[in-house]
Amino acid sequence: MNFNLTEDQKMMRKMVRDFVEEEVIPQAAHTDETHEFPLALVHKMRELGLLGIPIPEEYGGAGSDFTSYTLALEEIARGCASTAVIMAVHTTLGTFPIYYFGNEEQKQKYLPKLAKGEMLGAFALTEPNSGSDASSLVTTAKRRGDHYVINGSKRFISNTGYAGIYTVLASTDRTKGSRGITAFLVDADTPGLIIGKKEKKMGLHGSSTRELIFEDMVVPVENRLGEEGQGFKIAMALLDDGRIGIGAQAVGIAQAAFEAALAYAQERVQFKQEIMNFQGIQFMLADMAAQLEAARLLVYQAAVRRVEGVPYSKEASMAKLFASEMAVKVTNDAMQIFGGYGYTREYPIERYLRDAKITQIYEGTNQIQRIVIAKHLRNKNYD
Ligand code: CAA
Repeated sequence: MNFNLTEDQKMMRKMVRDFVEEEVIPQAAHTDETHEFPLALVHKMRELGLLGIPIPEEYGGAGSDFTSYTLALEEIARGCASTAVIMAVHTTLGTFPIYYFGNEEQKQKYLPKLAKGEMLGAFALTEPNSGSDASSLVTTAKRRGDHYVINGSKRFISNTGYAGIYTVLASTDRTKGSRGITAFLVDADTPGLIIGKKEKKMGLHGSSTRELIFEDMVVPVENRLGEEGQGFKIAMALLDDGRIGIGAQAVGIAQAAFEAALAYAQERVQFKQEIMNFQGIQFMLADMAAQLEAARLLVYQAAVRRVEGVPYSKEASMAKLFASEMAVKVTNDAMQIFGGYGYTREYPIERYLRDAKITQIYEGTNQIQRIVIAKHLRNKNYD
């Protein structure tokens, strides 16, 4: 497997890194403090073509590959995890449903707007009583001639209120369990689509996480994605991609914390010397660097396998699992190196730790990732 980046990938990473230094990092603390959705940054990302990186040019995207997308996402997360999750959800869970599972008419209608970033996408799977057990969802879609009537509610939906389109998972046949779940493309202005309460979260303050309620929401048959009953498999396949993105996000957050801790260890003087001179600090930084690199390689591996067209579901779960655990550890250790200063809002360390925590939870908790990995091991998918 070739982990060398192409010249195009290096150029793109440099472009995103410059953007992050100039535009994202200066904004991140404000976004965290005010809980404002970083709309101006999203518009700049649109201008830079960052909202459709792995979508072909014919549909308005940048025509790059999935690895390039993960590289860009990692860089954005290094600056602001909220901005990164907006991009991640928009791309893999908001745009990919249409690109990979939509018919040509649906692609023509929605993809150019999504890939050019003129419209954000969102993904509505989770419900108040259906999180890890995704196939237990109770939102229903009943066919009535040339349309469906959808009733139910969703919780913790990222990009809500800013998305122009939602991929909504609903049951068309409750007796069939996961095989009775169907995916629908729902325009944000559809009557009966109600935006519910905003979550008060520990971190990711700039990302919009809200409830969605469907009250006799009428969706035309032409907005069904795939066939009836295919929705669960569509959702699972999309989450394989999404999980690689969350791995990249975790690596980006940890990278920021590591860089800050490394710099601080060489500035902070105690016992008449920089604290980097102490082996206790050196060992922490060495472990942080090694774990960070291991996580980054797992993310690259999953992305490269995907680009090469070999199975990558297990590797996506491994990347998400390892990178998110690493991010919580590295941000926590960075705070330890910063001592009391790290615990204050004077430094970004406490934000990194708060933002890292969610990567162990969303797009499938790490317990779910272990279930997915174990299933593959049982099926001997461990080449
Ligand atoms: N790709 C394609 N198909 C898949 C698949 C995959 N990766 N994984 C499973 N399937 C198929 C199976 O082959 C099976 O097909 P058949 O019916 O033909 O046999 C079907 O889906 C059902 O599979 P399981 O029996 O394995 O399903 P399950 O009910 O046991 O659930 C699970 C499996 C892995 C636990 C799943 O429910 C899961 O991933 N749960 C976590 C949900 C999750 O990640 N939610 C995240 C929400 S989005 C989010 O967080 C976004 C955000 O805001 C940032």
